[in-house]
Parts: sequence; structure tokens; C-alpha cells
Amino acid sequence: MSLSNFSAGADPAHSGSQLTKVTMPALADMKRQGKPISALTAYDYATARVVDEAGIDLMLVGDSLAMVVLGHENTLAVTMDEMLHHTRAVRRAVRRALVVADMPFGSYHGSTEAGVANAIRFIKEAGAEAVKVEGPRTELVRALVEAEIPVVCHLGLTPQSVHRMGGFRVQARTADAARRLRADARALERAGAGAIVLEGIPREAAAAITAELQIPTIGIGAGPDCDGQILVFHDLVNLSFAPAAKFVRRYADAATLFRSAIEHYREDVEHRTFPSDRESYHLPAEVREGRPMSAEDADAVVNNDALQDFGEFSRS
Ligand code: KIV
Repeated sequence: MSLSNFSAGADPAHSGSQLTKVTMPALADMKRQGKPISALTAYDYATARVVDEAGIDLMLVGDSLAMVVLGHENTLAVTMDEMLHHTRAVRRAVRRALVVADMPFGSYHGSTEAGVANAIRFIKEAGAEAVKVEGPRTELVRALVEAEIPVVCHLGLTPQSVHRMGGFRVQARTADAARRLRADARALERAGAGAIVLEGIPREAAAAITAELQIPTIGIGAGPDCDGQILVFHDLVNLSFAPAAKFVRRYADAATLFRSAIEHYREDVEHRTFPSDRESYHLPAEVREGRPMSAEDADAVVNNDALQDFGEFSRS
């Protein structure tokens, strides 16, 4: 068994399977081998389980959770504590994907020291395997690498710069701006970045950066020539309650699916057709018929039924 393989053990979804953990160096190998990298955001245990079981290589606990999970109008308000909380939930679910925690606005903008201290919290307290930072912050990237923390960088449309950019706008639209972006990408690679997310830039600019760098680029709204692609989970399944951006492909309509299931449930409750008798626990026949039965025996019969539902948990 290689050091990066592990048996998923008691996990029923992966039981008996041998998984090769995705690591930051493995992403660079994928680029060298020309294998596309799949990446997706996740913010909680249930979606992270599904995303991991679907074989996605990189899972980003994105600060986009401020918008798609917490309902803010941009990503700026989300806090370290909130990001740590969601990263822990994702970490508990993931067996294979590389778990990357997005450093929230304000957690690395004041000083390099504060940035390193906050990044250490993601690794130590939440189990992240890398952090992501926005912008061409070469000094911070060098310090993080020095602290043994793999870093994913993020260039182009960086949502934490929404006020400076004057909105969520495509970046690197002129030859000069595209040249500056390439120089930033090269500098981040030299500083030790493990990968770079390229967001909201022309395909041609992303292709040039991807061709120039040894480290992988992961695109979102940056065309098909990047080494990998990332989307926001809620956009992919239509749970973001906003018109889809040009680069979003909706692979499912979870909003319609969930709404229909929930309406059905509400109707069943209103018509008293949920729960049915078969979905109810019952007193033992002896008790119902007034025959003698000890409390321990009655308890055992009812709980035997419940144990099948709740397993070991109900014993405690
Ligand atoms: O927070 C996020 O979801 C991101 C992706 C869009 C890359 O940064």
C-alpha cells in the first residue's frame, strides 16, 4: 500500500475500496500527464459526501458560501469562525478529494503574520489540506509555503475585490491587463503556489497562462483550456436563486426536485396520509391486548424495532 492509499474501512459508501488520496503534488502530476482536474465547492457534510463519492478531485470550501448558503449579497461578510465551521463539516465527509479552505476577506489582508496564523487554524482546527487566497500576494504565499501550508491562488475576477472592481466584472480585457495577469501568475508560481484558480477572464488569457505555468490552472469562467475546472455546487444543481452566468452549466434542477418533494410531503401531512401505520412504532401485541408483560420485555420489543432504524446510537 502506498502512503497515499488508505482503506476506507467502516465507511459504507466506500467499504472495501482502496482510495488514492488526492494531494497537491498529485494535481501537478495530473497537469504533467494531461489529465483534467475536476473541482467543485462544498460547504456541508451531506453535499461533500456526494461530491467526494462522485470522484471530484478538489473540493473547495469556498467563501461563496456567504452568498449561496448564508444569503449575503457578496462574499465579504463571511467570518473565520463560519469558514472553520463549514470546513470541519466538509472534512468529516471527504475521503479522497483534496480539501481546500478559502481564506475569508480580512483574514490575510492586514498582515502576512495574521494570514499565516489564520491559515494554520484551517489546517490545525478544521483539517484542511490547503488554503486559497485571492490576488497576487507573493509575500504571503512564500510565508505560507515556509509554514508547510499548500496554497491555491486565485486571479482574475476575485470576488473579495468586488468594490475595487466596481462589481463582478470580467477581468484582463485588454492586452496590457492580460500581460499583467500573466506576470502575476508567474510570480505566484515562483513564490510556491500549488495551483491557480483563474476566474472571469477571456479564454485566450487563461490559455496563455496555462501554457506558461508548470502548476495547474483551474478555471471558472475562463474557458476550456485550463488544466481543470471548478464550479459553485449551488450553480451546478440550480440552488443559487440567481440567473446563471454564461460559464455555468446546470447539470440538475435541485430547486424543482426539492420543491416538488417538499410540496408532496406538506400535502401528505395536511391530508393525514403521512405517517402511515407502517411508518409508526407499535406497542407489543400483549400490551395492546391487555395481557401481562414486564416493562423490560415491552421495552425490548419496541426498542428492537427502533434499533433497526437507529442502530448502535439508540443504545446509548
Ligand atoms: O468561493 C468560491 O466558490 C470560489 C470559486 C468560485 C473558485 O472562490
